[in-house]
Amino acid sequence: MTPTDTFTPAAGRFALGLYDPIVSLTRERLWRSLVAMHVAPRPDDVIVDVGCGTGSLAVLLGRTEPRATVIGVDPDPAVLRLARRKAAAAGAAPDFRTGMGDAVADLVGDETADTVVSSLVLHQCPLPAKQAILAAMHRTLRPGGKLVIADFGRQRTAAMRLAFRIVQFADGKEDTQPNADGILPRLIAEAGFEGVRETETVATVTGSLSLYTARRAA
Ligand SMILES: C[S@@+](CC[C@H](N)C(=O)[O-])C[C@H]1O[C@@H](n2cnc3c(N)ncnc32)[C@H](O)[C@@H]1O
Repeated sequence: MTPTDTFTPAAGRFALGLYDPIVSLTRERLWRSLVAMHVAPRPDDVIVDVGCGTGSLAVLLGRTEPRATVIGVDPDPAVLRLARRKAAAAGAAPDFRTGMGDAVADLVGDETADTVVSSLVLHQCPLPAKQAILAAMHRTLRPGGKLVIADFGRQRTAAMRLAFRIVQFADGKEDTQPNADGILPRLIAEAGFEGVRETETVATVTGSLSLYTARRAA
């Protein structure tokens, strides 16, 4: 896969400072809690959050199991400044590193993570980047390790397709439409993962979020 070095910022065409307030409108506490439930962090786990943004999920996972090592990776130094501030205020200690998702294995090491998570990232990446990021996530996981992704998935109803237009306005249609068409389970399987499941769907004001779980073969 060809590495990429351009990315859509967290809030798309809106100001970065608006990101957390906007996401709070998406039943954020519900779906982030569902992600934490599927991650089920254990002491000594290494958990990597790809495209960690302002750090909300990394902080939640670190607070859920303070003895786990949580590493947040994002290409945007500005968003990582917000993440570090949020972590300090919460008394959490994720290790935030600057890098693209398709370089995550080089950044944290092959076969080092017990769990790789990612929320709201793949929908705003071009198709080759979605594929390259999933391949790098697979490399980063130890054999038997777990993948948990929360992102906009198949938009199954007219209401959800309409609501998802807000995301398409912010992040553009070209990168987001494959998610709305339900491409992620296929891409996850093509990256080498086993047992790919869409475990939850959450209807939000900006479209339907799906949680996907899968494993790297043991
Ligand atoms: C919508 S935000 C989601 C942030 C966070 N994961 C959350 O749940 O709030 C998308 C994040 O993905 C990052 N991003 C965009 N393209 C990326 C890529 N190719 N690799 C890794 N991160 C990327 C952006 O910098 C941004 O912080």
